[in-house]
Amino acid sequence: MAETLTTVRAPLELREACNLARKSGKIAFVPTMGALHEGHLSLVRAARTRADFVVASIFVNPTQFGPNEDFARYPRDIAGDTKKLASAGANLLFAPDASVMYPAGEETRVRVGALGEHLCGPFRPGHFEGVATIVAKLFGLVGESVAIFGRKDYQQLKILQRIAVDLFMPVEVVGMPIVREADGLAMSSRNAYLAPADRDRARGLSLGLSHAWRAFEKGERDAEPIKNLALAEVIQVADRIDYVSLVDADSLQPITEKIGARALLAIACHVGKTRLIDNVVLGEDPDPRASMDARGAEG
Ligand code: PAF
Repeated sequence: MAETLTTVRAPLELREACNLARKSGKIAFVPTMGALHEGHLSLVRAARTRADFVVASIFVNPTQFGPNEDFARYPRDIAGDTKKLASAGANLLFAPDASVMYPAGEETRVRVGALGEHLCGPFRPGHFEGVATIVAKLFGLVGESVAIFGRKDYQQLKILQRIAVDLFMPVEVVGMPIVREADGLAMSSRNAYLAPADRDRARGLSLGLSHAWRAFEKGERDAEPIKNLALAEVIQVADRIDYVSLVDADSLQPITEKIGARALLAIACHVGKTRLIDNVVLGEDPDPRASMDARGAEG
């Protein structure tokens, strides 16, 4: 646990605090939109093991939400989040207002290439440009560091790794495993929107991924049957499916025939009014429901 958590709100205060901290060691950075759950806190704890000084940010970034998305109702709890960050071991919290991240006259946007073409890209036009832009601003302020993100937003992680390389940013972008609830549901701030009946149905995503994972482990390499195993579960629980896709885990381009070494099986669907995403990297990740088996729960 960090002795003290200092909160700064001005971009230049963040830059100065990071420049000072870097004189005595390494910096790890955990960017978030707040409404922190155990998944975020696991990122902060991972950051602690990699660096001497841990910076977290909380900013509900308006440019990554579409006009009909949940920007206004996105959960916000800065007081609760501050306590959680302190006990997970963060040293510095950057919690700016939108007016300082997007001041009058600001107009630059970071355009994302082919990594944004599939999966969530077509369903959330402008989303990855908004993510790329805010994260580029944050990386520019924090400077040399290791930045830690969750693998639930796998496409976001790949895009941010690309940006750091392409724009010569002194930031190593690292992805950490998905943290799941006891019934397999991937942790997300948006899970708070789920009504009890929807919350129950939401388990279908990890169940579908697990069926596909097991088939892959038994040697299935044809894309269609693997995808269909996941789809069969998702169809039963989702009110609307954006996609159940199998893509190359690095290029994020669709796999239509045989699966090679590493493939990402990813789902995005709506359960009630909540859009949920989940994924597994076949050939790399454990069974998404492995922790349930350990608890002896029903599949
Ligand atoms: O994953 C998130 O919480 C956000 O997309 C991020 C990376 C903090 C950018 O706003």
